[in-house]
Amino acid sequence: MTLDVRLDDELARRRRESELGGGAERIERQHREGKLTARERVALLFDPGSFQELDQLVVHRSTDFDMEKQRVAGDGVVTGYGTIMGRLVYAFAQDFTVFGGSLSEAHAEKIVKIMDLAMRNGAPVVGLNDSGGARIQEGVVSLGGYAEIFLRNTLASGVIPQISAIMGPCAGGAVYSPAITDFILMVRESSYMFVTGPDVIKTVTHEEVTMEKLGGADTHNQISGVAHFAAGSDEECLAMVRELLSYMPSNNMEDPPRIATTDDINRVDLQLDSFIPENANQPYEMRDLIRIIADESHFFEVHQHFARNLVVGFMRLDGAPVGVVANQPSFLAGVLDINASRKGARFVRFCDAFNIPLLVLEDVPGFLPGTEQEYGGIIIHGAKLLFALAEATVPKITVITRKAYGGAYCVMNSKHIRADMNYAYPTAEIAVMGAEGAVNILYRREVAAADDPQEARREKVNEYKEKFANPYIAAERGYVDEIIEPRFTRRKLITAFAMLRNKRDRNPPRKHGNIPL
Ligand code: HXC
Repeated sequence: MTLDVRLDDELARRRRESELGGGAERIERQHREGKLTARERVALLFDPGSFQELDQLVVHRSTDFDMEKQRVAGDGVVTGYGTIMGRLVYAFAQDFTVFGGSLSEAHAEKIVKIMDLAMRNGAPVVGLNDSGGARIQEGVVSLGGYAEIFLRNTLASGVIPQISAIMGPCAGGAVYSPAITDFILMVRESSYMFVTGPDVIKTVTHEEVTMEKLGGADTHNQISGVAHFAAGSDEECLAMVRELLSYMPSNNMEDPPRIATTDDINRVDLQLDSFIPENANQPYEMRDLIRIIADESHFFEVHQHFARNLVVGFMRLDGAPVGVVANQPSFLAGVLDINASRKGARFVRFCDAFNIPLLVLEDVPGFLPGTEQEYGGIIIHGAKLLFALAEATVPKITVITRKAYGGAYCVMNSKHIRADMNYAYPTAEIAVMGAEGAVNILYRREVAAADDPQEARREKVNEYKEKFANPYIAAERGYVDEIIEPRFTRRKLITAFAMLRNKRDRNPPRKHGNIPL
């Protein structure tokens, strides 16, 4: 009896020590900076009471720099598993109060352990990153730990979903683990990511830049596109992770989870019939159209602040998750450029890897012309989106709402690259190029020689429009399966995705394709 009490005391003492991490003062500092502690974050991420911590008593083995005198149970990272909306998820949360959340050999081993468990058991891994990077006192051993994690990130890619929330510093080579994962979320004003920090940049290039400007949430959400989500607080960030996971299966062998909906699958939306403006140059908000179609009008946008000429994200139709890729006429007329192509391709590949059907909403005037785009490699980047959509074997449906011009027609999930169902609204215009451009090329001499060149030009433009600025030639060829009244879009899509539910398609056997990276 006495022995049991002593054991309990010892266990309680060790647990308390681990839970206190770097001590009350450092926890206080974390809170002052608007950040939650690792354990507070884990508690919010998982369903209440479901988190099971592993390796709480692990300590580092380093003896250099008097490190043997500074051992904190847990070694700066909380790891374990639990449920999110009832489904198994693994997570690690770095504890900045212990050596700045820096990664030691033991810290890395803890992360590796849950990654291996996640792979064996087919469940997602969520990383809550808040770390000063490699533990300086451990040198190359710490670097080795990072590389072990990078390898597992790579092998898990496309097998289990991996999500990285950046909730503090994430610098140096440490950024490459999140970079390999599927989605990156950042918290405004308390997180940053960069390969080399402001000091190194100043020394090497004499450029002066703040941490926020160099690698803050807005920078990576708007400019680099490294991050997919920007949250205003830790709480919001963790809620976003929970919602994001709700659209994906636990692994690549499962289907994404359906959520029962009360939204009528036969809902007819009359407003859609007049939604596309009569004037082809007038913009409209594609996200409104998506919301009208979606269950409960809910659209979970991914990469909202980056390459806004293309909209990507998740919605549900009859309760089943669908990945949406849509041109955005209200930003740069919905043109495809380098960043939009990269954004779209990555999202399409995620959906295809995890059995999430794809819906493409098309209103695209073409690829963005210009030296900046050509020098930047629009050829290679545009090809990424083409490649990703062509190789995807999940159910793929396209709705051409208005413009489908040029190469962009082929790229945006055309019938020719294995789209399963292609619909067009009566307002669709499907041609090699717009009427003005076409007339300039085809009839330049004829127009110039006419008595009234302006009138001649107008006539030719009208003639071209009548012939091509409609969906009927494509429909006559079967390139469009059906021309639909916009009001029936939701019903049509739900019926078609249900028809495609058991779709089986595959690519030729090979080690892997060579997507133009
Ligand atoms: C050990 C570290 C540490 C590290 C921070 N700490 N980073 N301990 N190894 N890498 C400790 C600090 O000594 C301090 O301990 C506590 O964490 C909090 O750090 P502060 O500096 O007080 O915090 P703050 O002012 O918020 O600055 C955070 C920081 C800064 C910007 C992250 O600590 C920093 O620059 N750290 C070094 C970052 C770095 O260069 N890491 C290596 C990157 S290269 P006390 O005891 O005072 O609380 C890398 C390679 C990865 O990571 C390679 C993968 C291939």
